[in-house]
This record gives sequence, structure tokens and C-alpha cells, in this order.
Amino acid sequence: MIRARGIAMSSWPVQAKEAALTMSYYQHPLDVTRLPSWNVLEEHRLAMQHFNMREAFAADPARFEELSVSCCGLFLDYSKNLITPQTRALLVNLAREAGVEQAAHAMFNGEPVNASENRPALHTALRRPMGDDLIVNGTNLMREVHAALAQMTDIVGRIHNNLWRGYNDKPITDVVNIGIGGSFLGPQLVSEALLPFTQQSGVRCHYLANIDGSEFREVTANLNAETTLFIVSSKSFGTLETLKNAQAARTWYLARGGTEEKLYRHFIAVTSNKQAAIDFGIREKNIFPMWDWVGGRYSLWSAIGLPIALAIGMHNFKDLLSGAYSMDQHFLHEPFETNMPVLLAMLGIWYHNFWGAQSYAFLPYDHYLRNFVKHLQQMDMESNGKSVRQDGTPVSCSTGPVIWGGVGCNGQHAYHQLLHQGTPLIPADFIVPVVSHNPVADHQEWLYANCLSQSQALMLGKTRAEAEAELRAKGLPEREVQRLAPHKVIPGNRPSNTLVLESISPGRLGALIALYEHKVFVQGVIWGINSFDQWGVELGKELGKGVYGRLTGYDSPPAEDASTQGLIDFFRGRHRG
Ligand code: F6P
Repeated sequence: MIRARGIAMSSWPVQAKEAALTMSYYQHPLDVTRLPSWNVLEEHRLAMQHFNMREAFAADPARFEELSVSCCGLFLDYSKNLITPQTRALLVNLAREAGVEQAAHAMFNGEPVNASENRPALHTALRRPMGDDLIVNGTNLMREVHAALAQMTDIVGRIHNNLWRGYNDKPITDVVNIGIGGSFLGPQLVSEALLPFTQQSGVRCHYLANIDGSEFREVTANLNAETTLFIVSSKSFGTLETLKNAQAARTWYLARGGTEEKLYRHFIAVTSNKQAAIDFGIREKNIFPMWDWVGGRYSLWSAIGLPIALAIGMHNFKDLLSGAYSMDQHFLHEPFETNMPVLLAMLGIWYHNFWGAQSYAFLPYDHYLRNFVKHLQQMDMESNGKSVRQDGTPVSCSTGPVIWGGVGCNGQHAYHQLLHQGTPLIPADFIVPVVSHNPVADHQEWLYANCLSQSQALMLGKTRAEAEAELRAKGLPEREVQRLAPHKVIPGNRPSNTLVLESISPGRLGALIALYEHKVFVQGVIWGINSFDQWGVELGKELGKGVYGRLTGYDSPPAEDASTQGLIDFFRGRHRG
């Protein structure tokens, strides 16, 4: 029984509300390729075969205004795409026909949209304001959410005010977040992106994720056990890498004068598996909650975001939440034609399913967003890397592009060559703030210029005639002109979006991350898949135990295949010597 207050439903079309009452998209996913709007888009794709962006801009002076939108402090220019206003209308029709409205409604209201685990996906509840209620199965989840925020406020205040002290009564100066995947990538992205908002009284945040002695050494090398607090961050409290690192951290702490008795001052946990954290030795009152209705890759808004709050303070953390909440409201209420997450999602569908683009590049032009792509990779690829629909039937079209990219301008001097002249079509999102937190000479003007010139170059390209004219202008003999011209031709007509924000702030960053969460969700709905489970990563974990047993045990049966056994022998031979 689900009851929601605080989400205005008036903007939902009546048919959508009625449809939601009679069917659940996650129980009966549509075969999107059989929808009339899909067929219309296939025909439209053929008609767009020779569409040329240069010509489209020349023919329509209003193209930029027509194909751009702003919300929540973000401005999206999507005019450099292989689309016309008609394409947008057809894509939006597909989103409507595929039931995106009902699906969003179901997710926000706590229906079990994660059907294979029979759970809701309620990360959006984590950013809803005080006063909202969300009753799921008789429990008002908002009480739990706001109680957890109060618990966070308390510990952040105590650490910032030097009231939380280590075993020698010295204040905490460093926090090490031990966690992996969603218990690492989101908090790392945000705490590093918001470095300019670090509190005077804040602490330095470090991240320990991989099960790799070298990483452990590098992270702990300059830390003082007396003033270091470890956050064991694991929804399951069963993740091998995290538990091994937590045990190593405990050994490290004890070897540096820490005592078992004062261990509680140096180890806290965020988890939905309270008992496992208690068994590890963490005091119950130092365990922060996580819930099975929040997916790991959507969890930075919960107490998993504690390192963020410790770095930037609770008021900034709440601004982050409220930025994400504004994007939630935009997603829920804005008509699809001007709905930023829906537009980005459907443009992605356009290229992936109708133009055959297999990968998607993200190119943030800001040092503080350098970890954005890693977070997006988990968010997108762990969510939508699926081959069956919610009801277990095979998908009928390609899903889940490869997400990659990195910070500009560095990429320009490396992999952008493939974007400009390679054979695959790779759509890209450029993300750039107008104002830098650290102005140096005219760096920001150049950074912004580089970003714009990349999307411009992708779109304009260089024709054979232009290439030849350029070479002739240099006075080269005609034979040389003809020899070199093919190498200088740049196909152009390559699509990109540009997202501009005034500067990076907690609110705008919250909106930006939520924007992509909803984009991924919409695409999952179109493909009919469950974006909230991740069974694919489990097999490797299971096999890992067997391989470990064979590496370390001498009477283990041989591996299932000769390659793996050969590699085990290689390791054992080296370690025996
Ligand atoms: O193995 C994948 C995964 O389950 C991710 O989905 C998750 O974010 C990560 O591992 C960490 O899980 P946990 O927070 O339970 O340690």
C-alpha cells in the first residue's frame, strides 16, 4: 500500500495515472521495438540519413534557441545533434508510448520497480524536504531519512568542533572512507568536486577502495593513527574488498598505539547490515543506516555521503540534496519536450538504437569534475548493462552503451582524435562551468574556448575543398595538396550536447548528478530492463573464492579451465620461490 504526499501529481496526464493503476511497467515491460512510435522513428532515421548540421544551422537562425533548455542552474544546448524539432517530437512520443511517465511515478512513489529483488528504488526520497511523507508498506520512510540526516549532523558537528577525539584525545584531522563501487565513487566525486567549499574546520578525506596493498600503503602512508577516523562504508557489509581493507586498517591502527578499548573512536560504519558491523567491533550508535531501497550507485545522498558532509559541512551537503530535489521536481513536472533528463535520455536512445552508436563520451572541462566519468560509468553501465527485460524475456534491441571520457583539455591531446576522425559514431556530452573557483590569468577563457571549439569542430568538420584550399594557401604544389588533403578532411556532423553551469556549487552539482540518474532511468524504462539490480557482477565474486582457494590451498581441485589453472600455477610458482 503506497501513499505519497509532497509529490504533486497534477501534471501527470490523466491517461498515465489510469494506466498506472491497471498495470506496472516493471511487471509487464513493453517490447519497445513493437511500438508504433519506434517504427516511425526507424523511418525518420532513414529520412535523416543525409541530414547535415552545418546546413541546418545555416537554414534556421533560431536553431540554438529552439534546441536548448535550462533548469536548476544548468543550461543544456542540444542543437549540435542530428535532429530536427520533428525528431524531438518523435522521440518524446516514444517516451510517452513506452510509459516513462507511469514508470517515474512508480519509482518516486516506492513501488517495487527493482522487480528481481522485489524492492523500490527510492534514492529520490533521500533528498525530499522535511515535512514530506512517503509511506511504503506502512512505514513513513521520510522519518528514517531525516533521522539519519540528524545523526549525520551530530557527528559532523562533533568532529568539526573537536569534540570527537581519537584514542589519545587528539581531534580528528583525517577521514578514510573504506568502501567500493557506490560506496566510494559518488562520495569521492562530490567531496573532490566541492573542494572549494571545504570547511575551515573540515577534515581531509581519503578513499580506500581496491584490495591492493599498494593502495593501502599509499593512502595510509602519511596518516597519523591518533587523528584518523575510518568509515567502513558498505551497504551489505559483506563486500570482500571493503572487509579486507577494514581489517587491514584495524591492524594498522592497533600497530600504532591504538587500543581495542578505544577502537570505537576510530571506526564507524554506514550499512544496512547492522549486525555485521557490530560483529566487526563497531558500536551500535556509531553505525549509520542504509536501506535496501537505495541502490549502491544511487547512495551518495544517504549517510554513504558522510565523507562529503565531513568535508564541506552539513549545510552544503543539504544544498547538494536540494539541488538534486529541484531536478527531481523538474523531471516529474516538466513536459517531455523541455524535460532535460528525458531529452538527454532520448537523444542517447536515438544514437544507440537508431544510429548504432556503441559508446558515449563524457567530457567535463573542469578539474573538479575529474572523477565524474567514473561515477557515471557505474551509474550507467551497472544500471543498464542488461540483456533481459524485467520479466526475464530477452531485450529486443541493444542496451547500455560503453561510457567513457575524461577531463578536457587532456583528452584533446589524446583520444579526441578518434572522436574527430575515427570510424565509429561517438556522441558526447561536454560539461563546463563559466566561472572558475581558481582564476589564473586567462586560463578560464581558454578552457571554455577549448570546450566550445571541440564541439564546434565535431559538428563543422573540414570538407575536402576546405582542406585543399588550406594547403594551397600554404603554397604547396598541387601534387602535395592532393596527397595530403584526404588526411586533413574531418567528416564533421558528429553530435554533442553542451551542459553549461555558472560555476560548480553544491546545488548545481546535486542537480547535475540527479540529471544523469534520471537519464539512465528513462533509458532503462525504454529498454524495459531493471536498472536497479546488478546480478552480472556476482559471478566473478563467486568464482573469486574458488580461485583464491586454489592459490592458497594445496589440495584444491584444479580450476574449471586450463587457462585459469595455468595462471594459478604461475602465481604459485612465483610465491613458492
Ligand atoms: O559489486 C557491485 C556492488 O554491489 C555495487 O553495486 C555496490 O555499489 C558495491 O558493490 C559495493 O557494495 P557494498 O556497499 O555493499 O559494499
